[in-house]
This record gives sequence, C-alpha cells and structure tokens, in this order.
Amino acid sequence: MFPPLSETVSGCHVTEMQKDLIIRSMDHKDLDEILKIEETCFKTPWSRKSFENDFKKDFAVLLVAEYSGVIAGYAISWLIVDELHIANLAVHPDFRDRGIGESLIRTLLANSENYSMAGLEVRRSNKTARKLYKKLGFEEVGVRKNYYVEEGEDAILMIKHLHQNT
Ligand SMILES: CC(C)(COP(=O)(O)OP(=O)(O)OC[C@H]1O[C@@H](n2cnc3c(N)ncnc32)[C@H](O)[C@@H]1OP(=O)(O)O)[C@@H](O)C(=O)NCCC(=O)NCCS
Repeated sequence: MFPPLSETVSGCHVTEMQKDLIIRSMDHKDLDEILKIEETCFKTPWSRKSFENDFKKDFAVLLVAEYSGVIAGYAISWLIVDELHIANLAVHPDFRDRGIGESLIRTLLANSENYSMAGLEVRRSNKTARKLYKKLGFEEVGVRKNYYVEEGEDAILMIKHLHQNT
C-alpha cells in the first residue's frame, strides 16, 4: 500500500531556492483555490465533483504545493494495480518556472516503491508538460487518437519504468 502521506511528504522542503515551498496532502478547504487554478489552466477543467470524488478514492493521492502559504499547484495520482497513473497536474501561471510542477511529480514518484510503472496522457500540443515529463524520465510510447474529443486532439501516452534495477 501507499505509505501514509504524513510520514512521507509532509513538510518536504525541496531545494534551498525553494525553501518556502511545501508539498502536502490536499485538503477539502483547498478546493476553492484549486478550482480557480484548474479553470485557468485547462480547456476542459475538472469539476468540483471530480475533485470531491477523488477524496473518496482510497487509491488516489492528492497533493498541493504551497508557496509562502499560497496554493501554487497540485497533482493527483491514482494507484491502479502496478501503475502510478498521473491524473492531474497544474501550476498557477504566476508560479511557473520555479520547479513546482517538477517537485509535485517527484514527490508522487518518491512514494512509488510498490509500483512498476508511472503513466499519463498529455495533449500533443502541450510541449511544456511533455518536456517536464521527459526531464523526469518518462518516454513517449504511444498515441491515443482524438483522446480529447472536444478539440479532436490526440493524447501522447508517456510511461516511466520504476525500480528497473531492484
Ligand atoms: C506543465 C506545468 C505543470 C509545469 O509546471 P512548472 O512548475 O512551471 O514547471 P517546472 O518549473 O517544474 O519545470 C520543470 C521542467 O518542465 C519544463 N518546462 C517548464 N516550463 C517550461 C516552458 N515554459 N517551456 C519549456 N519547458 C518547460 C522544463 O523541462 C523544466 O525543467 P528546466 O527548467 O530544468 O528546463 C505548468 O506549465 C502547467 O500547469 N501547465 C498547465 C496545465 C498542464 O499542462 N498540466 C499538465 C497536464 S498533462
């Protein structure tokens, strides 16, 4: 099972430059701020209900990045069989290019001992996110045609093999 977040990521201070950044478990009281970020970042944002449903899933891990006390971003993964699936990731535009997205994904991956791979879908046009995932060792392994049906956009399927040498 995924270890309790309180033992693994609470108070995870990332680098000297990011000493005001804390990655912690998402709380219901964060949802208003998260929904504002979600609506700023995505053409088809998740609804409040989608986030609330994820709070109820025992296989979902919900993290927020708090920068100097302000919610700057969040990430959600689903732990399904042997896969850590990255279901959502966003950083508020005002807080980008400070390593926050990378820190969120690294935190999810740091708690992946029991999983053989991490996977996700990303829009073909999302060069920024594809570059971030490649930097973290994800490979582009397939295409899901018209995955984003409203715009008829393809998804690139990316995976990272975990613990290959263990
Ligand atoms: C994708 C996203 C989460 C990145 O968050 P971020 O905090 O700005 O990213 P980081 O500062 O951690 O950058 C980490 C790496 O991502 C890549 N990256 C980040 N911003 C980039 C940009 N503007 N152009 C190109 N590459 C970029 C780089 O590889 C960077 O590493 P480097 O600085 O060593 O080159 C953010 O742009 C975002 O919220 N976008 C909208 C929502 C989204 O697309 N979510 C992902 C859905 S799959």
